[in-house]
Amino acid sequence: MPENQFIAVADEGELQPDEMKAFEIEGRRLLLVFTNEEYFVVDEMCTHEDYSLALGCIKNGQIKCSLHGSYFDLQTGQPNEEPADEPICSYAVKVADGKVMVNPAQRRN
Ligand code: FES
Repeated sequence: MPENQFIAVADEGELQPDEMKAFEIEGRRLLLVFTNEEYFVVDEMCTHEDYSLALGCIKNGQIKCSLHGSYFDLQTGQPNEEPADEPICSYAVKVADGKVMVNPAQRRN
């Protein structure tokens, strides 16, 4: 996939505040999050064990894994709460023509 290619993954306004949407691009499981008027795309799976963060919740700019309670910062991907000690990847997002678009080749962290 070219490095500057953004792919539409949702309509602007599709997600309510603190809502998420799981999707796949080329077999990679990703998660779109809308919080504090901003969109984020991160890896769907927790780095602690292979568990979907889509089953967790969004709080104060962080996503919580519901299996063991780790929080990950959506900007940096860093875990703020044990037991996870590896970051999740966060990807470049933009809104254009009413679509939320992600570039999975361009990491934010
Ligand atoms: S699987 Fe996410 S914190 Fe353990």
